[in-house]
Amino acid sequence: MLSLNVMEEELIGIKNTALSFILEAEDLETLEDVKLQFLGRSGKLTLTIKDITKIPPEQRKEVGILANEVKQTIEDAIKSKSESLKHKTKTVLRKKIDVTNPAILPPLGHLHLVTQAIEEISGIFEKIGFTRVRYPEVEWDWYAFTALNFPPDHPARDDWETFFVKSAPSPKYGPMILTPHTSSGQIREMQRVEPPVRMLNIAKCYRRQSDVSHTAMFHQFETLVIDENISISHLKGVLDYFAKSYFGENRKTRIRPYHFQFTEPSFEVDVTCGVCNGKGCRLCKEGWLEMGGAGMVHPNVLKAVGLDPEKYTGFASGWGVERVLMMKDGIEIDDLRLLYSNNLEFLKQF
Ligand code: PHE
Repeated sequence: MLSLNVMEEELIGIKNTALSFILEAEDLETLEDVKLQFLGRSGKLTLTIKDITKIPPEQRKEVGILANEVKQTIEDAIKSKSESLKHKTKTVLRKKIDVTNPAILPPLGHLHLVTQAIEEISGIFEKIGFTRVRYPEVEWDWYAFTALNFPPDHPARDDWETFFVKSAPSPKYGPMILTPHTSSGQIREMQRVEPPVRMLNIAKCYRRQSDVSHTAMFHQFETLVIDENISISHLKGVLDYFAKSYFGENRKTRIRPYHFQFTEPSFEVDVTCGVCNGKGCRLCKEGWLEMGGAGMVHPNVLKAVGLDPEKYTGFASGWGVERVLMMKDGIEIDDLRLLYSNNLEFLKQF
């Protein structure tokens, strides 16, 4: 005597195997074989149905219903597969190959807008002898703050809205953080090479911020020049050269006093607005757009890397790649977050 459960399991097993064979069949012949194998006179399903007589009479009805369902399902699947295979054969036969047709071109992408900006910025600075470098995205507090003349627990550290990495602090360098600005590269560069230093550090930076003009990850480009007799005129000359090369010859720059822990004196650099050419308009109000920070390297920073501030002086600047990009003529992005949204419709435009 067979039991109800065993029969049911057997039937379900047959159904699943048959369906997977049907699915895999690639031509009508194979499909015909599958049909015979399950529904033929000595097919698996046919034989199993015969076994129904071996189970107790009061359970036969239930198994009978299931057996019919399984049969129906297999028949339907064979029918629809056979139709789709017939259709496929027809289209393959009908399709003539015209060898004179142009080939299908693979879709062609291009560099991301920010990568394009980084390449352009690098080219401008490399022309006047800067060396492009890139320093760690995960950094020690000492490089990003302490060596840059931030006293421990100084409120100015809050301006950088730093991300901290959950990791044991280094006894020497303090907590591990995500680089909040490229200025940490100043320290690394002065440790790597002796003056004269002419560094361009372009790297990813991270801060806890997100709105139309800020993303948590963004890029900065940092200049650092260290040598004997470097003065504010060098700073003004280099940054003005950059603004003219990047935005256009007709743009002017100006420096305004500001405060940074690691530069003294410190400045904010402005460039004339490209929309009104410095006259004042709705976008800029007074004719100037703010570009970013700069200043003369603080003596304490030089001391932190063992350079003699009596002998060497230098200047540094740190600006946002996305920021200067948005200030360029012809680039109108009303939400900076779009740059990192992987939205092809948006990216294709540039
Ligand atoms: N690191 C500063 C910032 O992120 C910019 C800066 C760099 C200012 C170099 C002065 C000199 O805002």
